[in-house]
Amino acid sequence: MDHSGPNHTPAAALGRTRSHAGSGHTLRLAVFSAKPYDRQFLNSARQSHDTTLSNLKITYHNFALSQSTVSLARGCEAVCVFVNDHLDASLLQSLHDYGVRAILLRCAGYDNIDLAAAEGLGFFVANCAYSPESVAEFALALIQTLNRKTHRAYLRVREGNFNLDGLLGRTLCGKTAGIVGIGRIGLALSRILVGFGCRVIAYDPYGENPSFLNYGAYVGSLDSLLSQSDIVSLHCPLTPQTRHIINDHTLQRVKPTAMLVNTSRGGLIDTHAVVSALKDHRLGGLALDVYEGEESLFYVDHSGDIIEDDELARLRVLPNVLLCGHQAWFTEESLEQISECTLGNLEDYLTGRNCKFSLVHREKTVAATPQDAGQVAASGAGNGMH
Ligand SMILES: NC(=O)c1ccc[n+]([C@@H]2O[C@H](COP(=O)([O-])OP(=O)(O)OC[C@H]3O[C@@H](n4cnc5c(N)ncnc54)[C@H](O)[C@@H]3O)[C@@H](O)[C@H]2O)c1
Repeated sequence: MDHSGPNHTPAAALGRTRSHAGSGHTLRLAVFSAKPYDRQFLNSARQSHDTTLSNLKITYHNFALSQSTVSLARGCEAVCVFVNDHLDASLLQSLHDYGVRAILLRCAGYDNIDLAAAEGLGFFVANCAYSPESVAEFALALIQTLNRKTHRAYLRVREGNFNLDGLLGRTLCGKTAGIVGIGRIGLALSRILVGFGCRVIAYDPYGENPSFLNYGAYVGSLDSLLSQSDIVSLHCPLTPQTRHIINDHTLQRVKPTAMLVNTSRGGLIDTHAVVSALKDHRLGGLALDVYEGEESLFYVDHSGDIIEDDELARLRVLPNVLLCGHQAWFTEESLEQISECTLGNLEDYLTGRNCKFSLVHREKTVAATPQDAGQVAASGAGNGMH
């Protein structure tokens, strides 16, 4: 079926879905980088969208969307992608050529898509919101694991070694925690850290969130935050402005005993600089859920492979470094919310309804009109993230 014709609008697609249910029109969604849990939760969420998405056919691909796999999106109205599917201008052009018109990110971050190019091609693009606590609680788990060395204690006790040498930690109560970026996750982590008795400070150049003032105080610069903090936790998005926000220069401000935690995006940290700081004892510890070079590694079993990334190899063996494979989001609740939000976004696109999670200006997308949709609320700005 050719979806690229001039009369193609999302609402028209919905109209066919609703009123031509028996006509054989199928609305196709291709889900890339799909794991068994994605299938399970999307299939289950789908049941609550049965009326509106009755003719939806979901195809799951367990590999990433890339130039070599994009042809599998041919004939699909929409694709659904995850954090390491990299949608640059050329891939977007291919998707467009194959007739795809909507891109559903089943994640919060959107640094993996060239939004300007997507908007230029008229794509609908939306991300997902889900429990910020899932990520904030994981950041706390990393902080306390690295601090109290429970990962090493667990291994020792399994071997019958009850010696405490090398397991000395520090009490969190009374320490200063610096949060870089007070959005949903930064705010949730602030609340948790206050519960531990920490003094919480934050840096966010894009304005103050009044709710944060219940938990801590803003400082005026990243340097000021870094020089005061015993724990530094990164929660800003990856953008051209924040790429390598932790680098040789900013690491000079960090206390040599401080712990750096990154559950946001790997590109926020210059890995080479942070490895040097750890080797020179200029940084006390590092906990990463995300990594600059994760795209070619994470979410796949490489235990039988030789991993060629030397900086990752160095990080994996340092005793004051804790690495995880981008799992902070990975809770049952988040999967439920992501799946529900993804299908909700698809419905918004199809009906022309205002989409809270739209990342593109509505008027530039191949938009449905309310008349087409036969219902629907006013259109307008999406989630304000353009
Ligand atoms: N590891 C995971 O599983 C996981 C899961 C969800 C989200 N994330 C990452 O976490 C990030 C934050 O998520 P969120 O929902 O809290 O986002 P959000 O948009 O609610 O908040 C981001 C905050 O960062 C601030 N910010 C932007 N540039 C900044 C800068 N230069 N310095 C300091 N602050 C800056 C923004 O003003 C905003 O307040 C996402 O962008 C995503 O990359 C990771």
